[in-house]
Amino acid sequence: MPLDEQAKIRDLEPERKDSAGTYLTTDQGIRVDDTDNSLKVSSRGPTLLEDFHFREKIMRFDHERIPERVVHARGSAAHGYFQVYQSLKNLTRARFLQDPSVKTPVFVRFSTVVGSRGSADTVRDVRGFATKFYTEEGNFDLVGNNIPVFFIQDGIKFPDVVHAVKPEPDREIPQASSAHDTFWDFASLVPETTHMLMWILSDRAIPRSFRMMEGFGVHTFRLVNEEGRSRFVKFHWKPLLGVHSFVWDEAQKIAGKDPDFHRRDLWNAIEKGIYPEYELGLQIIEEDEADSFDFDLLDPTKIVPEELVPVRRVGKLVLNRNPDNFFAETEQVAFCVQNVVPGIDFTDDPLMHARLFSYLDTQLTRLGGPNFAQIPINRPLARVDNHQEDGFHQHRVPTGRAHYTPNSLGGGCPMVAGPGAGTFTHYPEKLAGVKQRARSESFGDHFTQATLFWNSMSMPEKEHLVKAAVFELGKCQSKAIRERMVERFTRVDVAFGQAVATGLGLTSPASVGATVKKAAQAVAQKLTTKRTVA
Ligand code: HEM
Repeated sequence: MPLDEQAKIRDLEPERKDSAGTYLTTDQGIRVDDTDNSLKVSSRGPTLLEDFHFREKIMRFDHERIPERVVHARGSAAHGYFQVYQSLKNLTRARFLQDPSVKTPVFVRFSTVVGSRGSADTVRDVRGFATKFYTEEGNFDLVGNNIPVFFIQDGIKFPDVVHAVKPEPDREIPQASSAHDTFWDFASLVPETTHMLMWILSDRAIPRSFRMMEGFGVHTFRLVNEEGRSRFVKFHWKPLLGVHSFVWDEAQKIAGKDPDFHRRDLWNAIEKGIYPEYELGLQIIEEDEADSFDFDLLDPTKIVPEELVPVRRVGKLVLNRNPDNFFAETEQVAFCVQNVVPGIDFTDDPLMHARLFSYLDTQLTRLGGPNFAQIPINRPLARVDNHQEDGFHQHRVPTGRAHYTPNSLGGGCPMVAGPGAGTFTHYPEKLAGVKQRARSESFGDHFTQATLFWNSMSMPEKEHLVKAAVFELGKCQSKAIRERMVERFTRVDVAFGQAVATGLGLTSPASVGATVKKAAQAVAQKLTTKRTVA
């Protein structure tokens, strides 16, 4: 059944409840006579336990909260659709990428990473850009960020980086900023963070609007076509409004005056019919080209420079409807990196593999058990038929006696289609090797692309980055940490390191030679207009 733009909205229709003009009832459907006064003995006596409406009302209120996401807790979302410009049949057998007349329904959630649900929008942080495509072959989730690289190369370090960046465990300070000792302590001890640090200190980390932000799948994925041919792919979202950022002073003031700035901006734009639009971009890398780069495609701290592999724009995402209910949709939506459709597959990026485990695992807790895919915003438009049974919050009523495979009794039992026939068949990648924990050699180069990023910036952008580093590190109590970071930045670029050192009132690292130091000081003078932090 081909899908259309409204298919998910129609799917949600029976769940929508407009109670205008109806009578108040309990959860059991009993009409209520009074919801303002509890049942008491005389006018001044104790409230009676038998007042089931009173008890139910309070009980339901007591249990309104569920755990917020362990990261990306604050977010805003919208419905929309995705439409491919031309068939990508030669690249992938994913059906939603074949037919330009099909509008695939999507739900997109934008988020900050560090802050809690009630934190401010315009803080310096990575932004999540997660898209759920409700395709006719099942859900495909592209769970990306607005920065193309990541802090770490291996998911086993994710708890470390998150513990370092989240509020310190004894004082719960600071709530939503990277400006503190634990984060910079970790960053200064883990060189693989370098490239990401440059992005996080850049204006990319203070976007003007969710509508003016790029998105990136970060990892290298695979596209596999009908003939079974695989190519590597990097996913991009390009906003049609262009990429725009705040300057730090604006971002800080807005965080104080309107902590909901980005949420309000997205909501209002959609209400006014100014629909946010993004183009899906692909960087395609042939399998035999994969080894021709001086970095590893499986290393999520590296980009594939667009000069080497141009981004091909293949389709458009339009966000045209606000959610009806924040909790039911934005809060309960569960994006999982493991949700892929036939024609899209994984690679051996060790960060990706941790994610393949982590999202499903955390959602078991966050959404109360194994049936969260049945929550209306999560349930696919494609048919779901399997032998998964029972568990908390089972809403299906599976019929038939035989809920196992194989069986000879039939009735209510779906068949296994086998390879082909629209099934997902994992790409038969050839693998051989010894078990080891070490990564490939080029994972050890933490500076080439960080320097490339610095060199790609204009003078005002560099100045912003220096000021951001001085501001953030200026809040760091430990001189040793500040010195380690200056040393690191000097390895990215001498002038950059020097400028940050000057801004922090530190001397340049001893490792920098005298002539280089002199040249760097001249550049640093231009870059650091004044010391921003006392
Ligand atoms: C949530 C992106 C790395 C674990 C999210 C969300 C996004 C995202 C966009 C928010 C989803 C939503 O809106 O509901 C990324 C990107 C990563 C990355 C782009 C690196 C390339 C990781 C890693 C792990 C991880 C390495 C764990 C090993 C989580 C968890 C959540 C989350 C547990 C909360 C999910 C939920 O409660 O629904 N991530 N993430 N992430 N991420 Fe990641």
